[in-house]
Amino acid sequence: MSQTIASAPGKLMLLGEHAVVYGHACLVTAVNLRMRVALAPRSDDTVRIQSATLSEPFAAPVAGLRGPVQEVPEAVRFVVGALQQFWDETGTRTGFDIETASQFTHAYGLGSSAAVTVATLQALAGATDHALAPADIFRLGYAAVLDVQSGIGSGFDVAAVTYGGTLYYAGRGAEIVPLTGEPLPLVVGYSGSKAQTTALVRQVAKLRQENPEAMDASMQHVHDLMKEAEEAILCKDYARLGKMLDVNQAWLDALSVSTPALDTLIHTARQAGAYGAKLSGAGGGDCMIALVNAQTRPQVELAITQAGVPGAEVLSVETSAPGVRLEA
Ligand code: PMV
Repeated sequence: MSQTIASAPGKLMLLGEHAVVYGHACLVTAVNLRMRVALAPRSDDTVRIQSATLSEPFAAPVAGLRGPVQEVPEAVRFVVGALQQFWDETGTRTGFDIETASQFTHAYGLGSSAAVTVATLQALAGATDHALAPADIFRLGYAAVLDVQSGIGSGFDVAAVTYGGTLYYAGRGAEIVPLTGEPLPLVVGYSGSKAQTTALVRQVAKLRQENPEAMDASMQHVHDLMKEAEEAILCKDYARLGKMLDVNQAWLDALSVSTPALDTLIHTARQAGAYGAKLSGAGGGDCMIALVNAQTRPQVELAITQAGVPGAEVLSVETSAPGVRLEA
């Protein structure tokens, strides 16, 4: 049986993290580092999954994969979650050989979980006669991610890797608006350590439980900021957008989700002439982003590499990349 290959991009949160978990808006962009999933239907009911993160291939009968996805090894949970959604959606129960390969390490926080989930769904649709529209891929992908992450996640990452480009995302997927397919002038700095997203989401949930009114009011401000940021992106007013990055970072700082390493890189980037800078994603590690222009880009990149943050590096990525697709 011939192989079907699908690929999905990574993602970067631009603005609105944490508030988006409560249905508020965020802006997210797809990046040009991709996750590839190669898949071939089998004549028996075995599922075999291979990836660089597994010391040996994972294999199990379909019947053994119908239970809670937490029962399978962590390294294959998102692929198995996607398979479960596909089997339920199509009423099929066939086995597959599946191989995943990524152009980026999951340590960067660029959305490898969402990318592998969505690329698996696209490959499954491509390899069988069950067509899935992008809206179906988003719906099934988001359900799979929620299963794996015990209900935690706004779905912004699933939307980004499904649709690609730069998006306005709100209402846990009720509003997904494409803003641009053109790259944004961003510098992306990795802070040298990996974030624990679910722990940070729980930390913010606790804060909200303790101060419901103040938190809801401040999240509404973040939501309003997204409307302004959307406008700034549409008219390419990056100086204005940069200010919004700084305002959003001040709020994230108040939630205590930033780290000294992220703070150092953010301040360094601003001092080196960036229009604005903030963390990207849950905080607690992963990446920061800075908005620049052609003149300030080299000095901001240099400043990040020379900031003295252990393990920090500038990632070479382009934004507004295409969403999930079948490869030749
Ligand atoms: O850590 P990341 O890059 O997966 O981003 C998490 C963003 C949150 O808003 C904190 C969580 C979510 O699911 O939206």
